[in-house]
Amino acid sequence: MKKFLVVAVISIGLWTSCSKIATTDPYVPTCTGTAKSYSKDVAPLIKTSCSGCHQNFSTYSQLSTNRNSVRSMIVSGQMPQGSTLSTTQKDAIVCWIDNGASNN
Ligand code: HEC
Repeated sequence: MKKFLVVAVISIGLWTSCSKIATTDPYVPTCTGTAKSYSKDVAPLIKTSCSGCHQNFSTYSQLSTNRNSVRSMIVSGQMPQGSTLSTTQKDAIVCWIDNGASNN
């Protein structure tokens, strides 16, 4: 019984310390203020940050078709590969998608 308690306490300690590391500074979109525009906010960002490696997001219809995977890659921080976007830049793309990804 004592052994079990010791193991349980150590496991709980490890589990809480690991889960703290895993949740450090997650990106959470803040979609307040002016709605984002495809032509003014999103397209220029995709062009500078993504089109060097991806030609398949360069038109409205291509980006709109791929929006779910684009969103999750940006939210998880997996893309853009080799660099990072600022929170403001992530918000521009993610909030535009969450707002219905209009051709605006
Ligand atoms: C330096 C090159 C590079 C840049 C810049 C880059 N990517 Fe990628 N991307 C890749 C590679 C390579 C893969 C496929 C390899 C993998 O799955 O890890 C990929 C895969 C993806 C995928 C999943 C597969 C697909 O094609 O649908 C998405 C979505 C994506 N990238 C979105 C983006 C977005 C959005 C940006 C800009 C914010 C971006 N990437 C910038 C290299 C890049």
